[in-house]
Amino acid sequence: MCGIISYLGNRKTAGKLVVDGLKKLEYRGYDSFGFAEKVNGKIRLTKKVGKISEFRENGKTFAKTNLALGHTRWATHGKVNRVNAHPHFSADGKVVVVHNGIVENHAELRKFLRGKGVKFVTETDTEVIPNLIVEFLKKNNLKEAVRKTAQKLRGRFAFVAIVAGEEKLCAARNGSPLILGIEKFFPKSDDKLLAKIDGSAFFIASDTPAFLNHTPDVVYLDDGEMVEIEASPKQDHFHAQFFGITKGTAVKKRIISLDLKESKTEKGDFAHFMLKEIFEQKETIHRALKQDEKQLEKVAQLIRKSFGTFFIGCGTAGKVCATAEYLFAKIARRHVNVIFGSEFDTQEPFLTNKTLLIAVSQSGETADVLEAYKIAKRRGVKTVGVVNVAGSSVARGSDVVLPVNAGVEKAVASTKATTAQLAILTLLAYALAGKLAEGQQMLAEAGSQIDELLNPRYSEHLEKIAQKIKRVESMYVIGKGTDYPMALEAAIKLQEVSYIHAEGFAAGELKHGPLALITKGTPLIAFVPADRSLGVGGPANGYRQEVLSNVSEVKARGGRIIGVSPQNDPLFDEWIRVPDVGNAQPIVNIIPIQLLAYHLAVLRKNNPDLPRNLAKSVTVK
Ligand code: F6R
Repeated sequence: MCGIISYLGNRKTAGKLVVDGLKKLEYRGYDSFGFAEKVNGKIRLTKKVGKISEFRENGKTFAKTNLALGHTRWATHGKVNRVNAHPHFSADGKVVVVHNGIVENHAELRKFLRGKGVKFVTETDTEVIPNLIVEFLKKNNLKEAVRKTAQKLRGRFAFVAIVAGEEKLCAARNGSPLILGIEKFFPKSDDKLLAKIDGSAFFIASDTPAFLNHTPDVVYLDDGEMVEIEASPKQDHFHAQFFGITKGTAVKKRIISLDLKESKTEKGDFAHFMLKEIFEQKETIHRALKQDEKQLEKVAQLIRKSFGTFFIGCGTAGKVCATAEYLFAKIARRHVNVIFGSEFDTQEPFLTNKTLLIAVSQSGETADVLEAYKIAKRRGVKTVGVVNVAGSSVARGSDVVLPVNAGVEKAVASTKATTAQLAILTLLAYALAGKLAEGQQMLAEAGSQIDELLNPRYSEHLEKIAQKIKRVESMYVIGKGTDYPMALEAAIKLQEVSYIHAEGFAAGELKHGPLALITKGTPLIAFVPADRSLGVGGPANGYRQEVLSNVSEVKARGGRIIGVSPQNDPLFDEWIRVPDVGNAQPIVNIIPIQLLAYHLAVLRKNNPDLPRNLAKSVTVK
């Protein structure tokens, strides 16, 4: 949700470094972009509407400078146009800011600044930030002016500021991610908790892929913290110093060396990241299973001891959580509560120090989840994070972390992180039932079946089905038990990349209303279990016949049936074969729909990696 990056260091190609970094942050927002370079004490600005990946550089694009900052936008306040694109100047042209998040009290601050004679030129909430800094600069240095500005802002934010005439970068965080990348830091002491770090160059960005090809050494800023970077007194290197926003006193931070390889974040031979990440599920399921058994046991024990366990997530992660309700009932005979992150605050009256909160999040930066964490901390609730991004706010704020291990997920539509999260929740249900080894074996076998399933022929089969339905206006997805949340997840996947209206339902619910939407040719994707499946308290032959009855009600009204099932059936117009993998069925069922959604997107000429109006990592409420 908006990507920011800045550079100050010994290289004179800061503009290029910032633009290259922005391209790697494009998944965070892609309606416009801009960057500012400091040249001869002045600031040179480049802003454009559109995607940074489509920006064509030439010999004149960049100035020779060692200080620059940039932004790729996901609009929250103000239309998508050049004026509203970041970076934003103060009215006097001296201070420039890039910002991610929302300034909730911007109207009030605008009024105050107008009273001081400031004339605003954009519709953004951000524009108050450089102007407040200018106000505070009248009596303070940059660090103090940024600190006092940060104190005035309400809402979740991360911003970086520079001032014409000063070789400094100053950044503050409260709610939105901000990470410092350090090139060649020294001395490399064992004491990695430092209030001041010396290095040859520094990046400050919303996410690590922005600079991982330059350095694996990072410092994660926490809420209420800020950093200032400037040249050393001898001007032979640079240093970063950390402070608290409230008091301005020094804060000690830990340097973490990431082992992520930047190459893993590239598309390779795949046309899109989404396709690459779908295919990576051959190995990510196996990687997800590599959990520290002691940690799994610890979480199982926390669930046993808890008086109320809540699973929370948003969007796709929320659907993953919804499978937990079924999986825990079936495998461990345990009731758990499931609620979207944005709804968790409604449960506050029931939260005590005996409550357990398990948050599922790919990015670990989703604002609705972080807000839930704030409530949890306030109420003494224990927290477990099932998180993909190591070092993210959820990972750092959890009492126990179960790492998703899916590697960097770049496509906005989540695929490999989703199935890895499903695998971990399934494993956890087995751990709770005291049958961890059984769960590990079952999931490892399912992983091998996925390996066989995901081949080019399977993808071509899905592409052929996509060809047949690519012009429909609406489609529906049904399932029962764990397949019901997967029907909801399938609908999200179809909506976000194909832009076809899609909705998921519990199979038995169609006849209570939605059946009225079925006309001749309306596609119905049905997750139909194998004959031998046994549902929670379900009939001895499982749910197959029951779901097939629901399917036949649609067929009778002209619907076009796409059956996702281990076995074919005469009711199916198209059959998407999936292996029969018992309790791992939600994992294998969602994979062909990810592929179907991908092919629909490509056939309808949409970019599946960067769907319209969306962004990866939703850091606003
Ligand atoms: C959809 C999708 C989103 C995310 C949601 C939560 O494909 O990716 O619905 O699942 O925004 O994000 P995380 O998992 O980062 O908390």
